[in-house]
Amino acid sequence: MSVDSYVHVFEPGTDSNAAPLLLLHGTGGNERDLLRVGRTLSPESALLSPRGNVSEGGGALRFFKRLAEGVFDPAEVTQRTHALADWIDAATKKYGLDPAQLLAVGFSNGANIAATLLQLRPASLGGGVLLRPMVVLDQPAAPGSLVGKRALLLNGTVDPIVPLDHPPRLAALLRSGSAAVTQQFIAASHNLTPTDVSAAQTWLRGGSTISR
Ligand code: MLT
Repeated sequence: MSVDSYVHVFEPGTDSNAAPLLLLHGTGGNERDLLRVGRTLSPESALLSPRGNVSEGGGALRFFKRLAEGVFDPAEVTQRTHALADWIDAATKKYGLDPAQLLAVGFSNGANIAATLLQLRPASLGGGVLLRPMVVLDQPAAPGSLVGKRALLLNGTVDPIVPLDHPPRLAALLRSGSAAVTQQFIAASHNLTPTDVSAAQTWLRGGSTISR
């Protein structure tokens, strides 16, 4: 897989101890959407941000297809997840990043492919901040596959897209692989809020509590 197979932005970090961030945008976004959030979350980190290569309707970019709201083809999701994992492998080699340290910061569809990466290709990531994720592949991570990896799942209490039972179900699927998962609801819809940013900052610094 060539590193050019996904249009992307790479911004080098200024401190090699700061975990590099893999930024994964939501439906209709692009590789520039989360650059500012990434910089805010970890100013010293390298930022790697691919553009989703699946186009929905009038050209809204995503990382895998959606048959209807919340309805997916598991085979297609699996194939797209492996393609992105192969690209991460090529990109981390090219830019000199350690995939075991790489933390995804994904929003909506980007959070969902971060979850399927952890479920299907655990060596691609060290973990991540998943903003508004849902269960896309109802498949537990393989036992032991996520040892040493950590994930923060942030969902909204009034999100019309993500059913309320999905975040705890996704947390359980990741915990099946022994990931350290923090799952929290905040008073929000399917949009990013300052509370998401502060919760992610706290979690990245090693804490797990959320400020409301
Ligand atoms: C998805 O399709 O991944 C989810 O419905 C989130 C979204 O993109 O709106």
